[in-house]
Amino acid sequence: MKTVLKLLGLLAVIVLAALLFIFSGCFDVAASKPDAGLIAWVLRTTQARSVHRAAASLEGKVQVPKLDDPALVRTGFAHYHEMCVTCHAGPGVEVSEIGMGLNPFPPELAKRRGDEPVEDFWIVKNGIKMTGMPSFGATHTDDEVWAIVAFLKRLPKLSPEEYQAMVKQAGLGAPGVEGEEHEHGGQHQAEPGEEHHEEAGAKPPHAHPPGTPPHKD
Ligand code: HEC
Repeated sequence: MKTVLKLLGLLAVIVLAALLFIFSGCFDVAASKPDAGLIAWVLRTTQARSVHRAAASLEGKVQVPKLDDPALVRTGFAHYHEMCVTCHAGPGVEVSEIGMGLNPFPPELAKRRGDEPVEDFWIVKNGIKMTGMPSFGATHTDDEVWAIVAFLKRLPKLSPEEYQAMVKQAGLGAPGVEGEEHEHGGQHQAEPGEEHHEEAGAKPPHAHPPGTPPHKD
């Protein structure tokens, strides 16, 4: 009985200390500073084990499509260029200011060696808590997520020139927001019969809302 009381007392002290720590505001949540050694280890290990376990439970339950299918890779590329390159950069494309400020820093996926398609599928669909890696499952179908995974497999083999050729072929602009196709060669020359929508100098800062494909005339 005495031991039980002692243990309960100890538990109460631990809970109280934890509450004191939480309410004191001592824990520094600044993203500008890297996590201290032990916390970094706890977070990294928890994340790696969790992703590994979740992906393992998917094995056999999900049908992996043919990831080298060129049409699938092209679809995945368009999503990557719109949604991922801001944080994860690409061949010849630097990480954006948003990505630069993240802690942990988003890895350059073009420089990864080896790939785990099912793990990638799980990560892109579900995201990773406390990192800034969003979940795309609510806004994208499994087929679209697989297309992204197919592109991730191709990504490390692409040169900057090949990446730019894919941007051009897909009719996309600079990553994320600015519709670059409006800026090529400075002043946009109106084709005969084409309406001129924008007055020179009065161009809106973003040709289309962030994250949406450029509006095609
Ligand atoms: C807002 C920034 C941001 C965006 C946008 C983003 N990610 Fe991430 N991503 C991260 C961060 C941060 C991590 C975690 C890094 C870590 O744990 O060290 C991450 C992790 C990952 C990982 C795991 C990498 C590894 O080797 O452990 C994959 C795969 C990934 N992201 C793919 C994508 C894809 C594909 C997209 C687009 C559909 C995307 N991400 C969009 C920030 C982002």
